[in-house]
Amino acid sequence: MLVVRNIAEICTGRVGPIPLNDELPITRLRNSAIGIEGDTIAWIQGDDPANWSDNARVIDANGGCVIPGLIDCHTHTVFAGTREDEYVQRAQGLSYAEIARRGGGIKNSVDAVRECSVDQLVEQALPRLQRMLALGVTTVEIKSGYGLTVEDEFKMLRAVKRLNELQPIELIGTYLAAHTTPREFEGNPDGFLDLVLDANVLDQIREEGLAEFADVFCETTAFNVEQSRRFLTTCADAGLTPRVHADQITQIGASKLAAEVGATSADHLERIDDESINAMRDAETVAVLLPACSFYLGVEQAPARRIIDAGLPVAIATDFNPGSSVVESLPLTMSIACSQMGMTPAQTLIATTANAAAVLKRENKVGAIKEGMQADLTILEVPTIEQMCYFAGRNCTKTVIKKGHVV
Ligand code: NIG
Ligand code: FE
Repeated sequence: MLVVRNIAEICTGRVGPIPLNDELPITRLRNSAIGIEGDTIAWIQGDDPANWSDNARVIDANGGCVIPGLIDCHTHTVFAGTREDEYVQRAQGLSYAEIARRGGGIKNSVDAVRECSVDQLVEQALPRLQRMLALGVTTVEIKSGYGLTVEDEFKMLRAVKRLNELQPIELIGTYLAAHTTPREFEGNPDGFLDLVLDANVLDQIREEGLAEFADVFCETTAFNVEQSRRFLTTCADAGLTPRVHADQITQIGASKLAAEVGATSADHLERIDDESINAMRDAETVAVLLPACSFYLGVEQAPARRIIDAGLPVAIATDFNPGSSVVESLPLTMSIACSQMGMTPAQTLIATTANAAAVLKRENKVGAIKEGMQADLTILEVPTIEQMCYFAGRNCTKTVIKKGHVV
């Protein structure tokens, strides 16, 4: 048995998805200890050595706060190369969409990924995941989408699978073949979709266990609503749960499509309108907000307050990728949500734990500190979640426990 004691506060929520407009949807347990048996939380009881046996291994939290292991439910962590030239171009006034229209952006990362082997992709991604783990992140979703040939998309997803075996963070693959139309299919997006939606391809993804979700960039610079619907429904028929990059640059009905096809989430939502908010709420589609992306691009944030006030559960993720959000840190992203979106630290905690778990269909396993849940815990060196967000950009993580092991 492993026991975590001397905790200032255990800060957690119910099982997600949780609307954040409730009275503070958060529990704060003081003077408690957590008992872990194997990979599972066995009990939460008083911080009294009489409650555990003498041969239990005890971790002293030293008056820090304990939160559920953080969950980054939207990333593009497997990529190759860098795009700092675009970063400079944006600083000089060019927009993200204009860079994409001129043939840069995602397509530059596609060129770099196509040059790499699975091993090379793994080698580049591993240190990124190690840094995420050190920040208290214990579950990460990773999308393909920089291969854009059948073979290169498989290569990316196989890299995710390999990485899952090589380090402690649990990784979940998402098939984002519909990220953009590659150069060789310029003007023929439907022809490209024929290729990546081939029944044998989707069967193979399932057989190898390479992805649980399918995602599309539904945007004027990428795929329209009709093409996105076709991609998502075909993937859903093959067992991949839909998600959507929606309403980021323009409003073309992408988040409404997410609701229509039963997506677990619509992500970005900088341009969401009230009608779409209502459609998502009725369909129980979670709103995934990506404040580090808007921060990084220097554009307006998604209307978090309006979405929360409408009763729609919100999750937050880094969107870590080599173009629009070169931000690995989920804690920094939480601070950005507080400073720029008007969310409270407590709301951002639920958004990166219980609600992020719900997006990934793991809400009964991770994202909350409860008896019977998997023992994924992050021990902070500060006493509250408020202090963690307040210290923007500082790593307040002291110890990370994944599946009952100190990692
Ligand atoms: O979520 N918006 C589309 N896809 C990514 C960006 C990918 C890139 O620029 O490389 C995003 O922001
Ligand atoms: Fe993204």
